[in-house]
Amino acid sequence: MAVRLDGQVVLVTGAGRGLGRAYALDLAKHGAKVVVNDFGGSVSGEGHDDTPAQQVVNEIKAAGGEAIADGGDVGSYEDCYKMIKLAVDTWGRLDAVVANAGILRDVTIHNMSEQDWDAVIRVHLKQCYNLAHHAWPIFRQQSYGRFVMATSTSGLIGNFGQANYGAAKAGMYGLMNVLKLEGEKYNINVNLIAPAAQTRMTANLMGRDPNDPERAVVMAPEHVAPAVTYLCSPQCEESGICIAASGGRYSRIAIVANKGVTYDPHEFKDADWFAANWSKITDLSDAYVPWSFRETREEHYAAKKAAQG
Ligand SMILES: NC(=O)c1ccc[n+]([C@@H]2O[C@H](COP(=O)([O-])OP(=O)(O)OC[C@H]3O[C@@H](n4cnc5c(N)ncnc54)[C@H](O)[C@@H]3O)[C@@H](O)[C@H]2O)c1
Repeated sequence: MAVRLDGQVVLVTGAGRGLGRAYALDLAKHGAKVVVNDFGGSVSGEGHDDTPAQQVVNEIKAAGGEAIADGGDVGSYEDCYKMIKLAVDTWGRLDAVVANAGILRDVTIHNMSEQDWDAVIRVHLKQCYNLAHHAWPIFRQQSYGRFVMATSTSGLIGNFGQANYGAAKAGMYGLMNVLKLEGEKYNINVNLIAPAAQTRMTANLMGRDPNDPERAVVMAPEHVAPAVTYLCSPQCEESGICIAASGGRYSRIAIVANKGVTYDPHEFKDADWFAANWSKITDLSDAYVPWSFRETREEHYAAKKAAQG
């Protein structure tokens, strides 16, 4: 099963640099026409420059692909409408969206200003609402869509000094859980990518040498791009999956639930009973991945397969 996006149109935000650039180039290599969005600001989100997006468009065109640049701000409801309209006005369709643009304002919670909180939530989490809200009518109408959001282990697992970023990134998991249900009957798949790569965002973190040539190879964004291309493709038939990707490793991160401890609800238990049962209540040895309140993921996909005959 070759992964191909011939004739399809994909919007990649924050595609002027780093991971987004690698996604845009790989999607174009697999046949997609790409809207290359990038506001062109600093890592913390200041300033504006149309050059990075245009440079990636030039690279795609030089390789024989089709692309168009957009300099909009993903935190803006109106700009997201315009970038989706640009795809439809230019090529008559939109098949996939990669919500990748991002900024950092790292600071511990007691020092975090309201501006630092709001700016990060806006660019990461509100971006996803903006793009999903504007793409959905097109996806529904064509009974097809792929929506990929760039999350992070900083939120799914936790990372010191990134309360705003971690909350926004983990919020994408919640958004995915709801949109996978809302999109299913329209063949709209919603998935997450949790990347790790050497980009300007991570080059100076944790005392790393930004010019380390070995790291530039083993942590290149190009290691993450194949996963995103697959998640954007018609070949990916699953929804509600979070893929972690970095040089040398692809894996999956999921929220699981256990069966827990049951008791007769006509009785009322006290905190001492709860404390005595803590280890059984929190034991994950029977954990499963839920699809909804009613089904496990496995039950859901088995029922779907059976219904399709
Ligand atoms: N690099 C990593 O290891 C890593 C790890 C986890 C998650 N991520 C996520 O992956 C995504 C890409 O990160 P990167 O490492 O390539 O960073 P990067 O700084 O190299 O690229 C991000 C791009 O987003 C653009 N951008 C920022 N705000 C924007 C806005 N409001 N509108 C449009 N474009 C905007 C920037 O101009 C920049 O070109 C981000 O969402 C980031 O949080 C990266």
